Amino acid sequence: MSQTVSIPHGLPIERDAGPFDPPRQITRLRDARPVSPMIFPDGHEGWFVSGYEAVRQLMADARFSSRLDLGVIHVPYEMPDMPVSTEPSPQVPGMFIAMDPPDHTRLRRRLTGTFTVKRMRQLEDHIIEIVARQLDEMARLTPPIDLVKEFALPVPSLVICELLGVPYEDRKDFQANSARFLVKSPTLEEKIAAYTALSTYLSGLVADKRATPGEDILSDLARQDDLSIEELTGIAFLLLLAGHETTANLLSLGTFALLEHPEQLAELRANPDLMPDAVEELMRYLSVVDILYRYASEDIDLGGETIGKGSTVVVSMLAANHDPQRFENPDTLDVHRKARGHLSFGHGVHQCLGQQLARIEMRAGFEGLLRRFPTLKLAIPAGEVRLRTDMNIYGVHELPVTWAQPAE
Ligand code: HEM
Repeated sequence: MSQTVSIPHGLPIERDAGPFDPPRQITRLRDARPVSPMIFPDGHEGWFVSGYEAVRQLMADARFSSRLDLGVIHVPYEMPDMPVSTEPSPQVPGMFIAMDPPDHTRLRRRLTGTFTVKRMRQLEDHIIEIVARQLDEMARLTPPIDLVKEFALPVPSLVICELLGVPYEDRKDFQANSARFLVKSPTLEEKIAAYTALSTYLSGLVADKRATPGEDILSDLARQDDLSIEELTGIAFLLLLAGHETTANLLSLGTFALLEHPEQLAELRANPDLMPDAVEELMRYLSVVDILYRYASEDIDLGGETIGKGSTVVVSMLAANHDPQRFENPDTLDVHRKARGHLSFGHGVHQCLGQQLARIEMRAGFEGLLRRFPTLKLAIPAGEVRLRTDMNIYGVHELPVTWAQPAE
């Protein structure tokens, strides 16, 4: 039996196998022992789950509580100055990603009708328009430009702002605070400051919507009197953060991955019908939401190991999505692959509420970008692209790109 591993969790793990594949340490661990005991930087013992089958089984098992994952806060294990909790964390009102049923069910149920496949399909044309407008603006600029700033971040931000009824003019502050909040190893003061600033802003916004509701998702929620302002604020926080940071990183890291795989890119350009499968494959291959946390509410057998009651469990979606037991040649990007069954939107009761929206944004985003900029290429060597190994959602900090200007 291999010994207990120590993972420098919370600290940036170097992408020593390239920008897209899991770090070698994680791959070795998954292949040797997909459910491994681990030690956190503060000495606290827990488990690291990295094999596809084990991850899927764990996510579907309600005995693994989500109450250690304060939304995307991950406070206790990433900051050495925080005491380690040995029982479920207190719940942040409204932040249902970090709740268990029945509290989770009570809140999530209010939104399931809003994010259905049918409702999201009705938005598709509008999202295509938003993409086209953003590409028009980008085309007016003189390259090189930063694709994150000019395209990948604005598109999902515009969409989620419009859906939620958050003024897009306020984006500078909420994008900066979201980014500060997602840094892996900030000081506690920095994390709390970003959280407080974003919550204060959103609490004012939902209070206004309660007083004078409009035609948007937050207003629809604000009309429901049994939801408190604190709950509305937590829901708004979750939707706003999850709604723009995730898709933005998939769009920019996905573009980087396609530019680094020119044969795949050429096939996709030649056959746009491949786009839905290509998006699923990019989701699998890149797994931008890699690490999730769970808490064992009782002794649970998983993958031949017994995870003791009270253990903290770290789950790697990236490792699971690159598990050769489930996906053939997992470290190869293949736009023909049928990658459905990947775990990038999670699995079980917390499976991503916004997944249909995200799919539409990504299909429209990649489709528009590739068609409009047929000569798009990196403006710096690939090795110089700054990777977000320091953030809780993976991606690139900037993606400098250029293209051939049309002849005057
Ligand atoms: C949950 C990934 C886009 C809203 C999740 C989870 C994952 C995920 C892995 C499960 C977390 C867990 O089990 O602890 C992604 C990725 C996206 C994306 C990779 C884009 C590529 C979106 C968008 C929204 C959204 C656009 C917009 C509203 C949510 C919400 C939850 C969630 C509200 C919590 C669901 C619950 O706890 O019941 N997402 N997401 N996500 N996502 Fe997404």
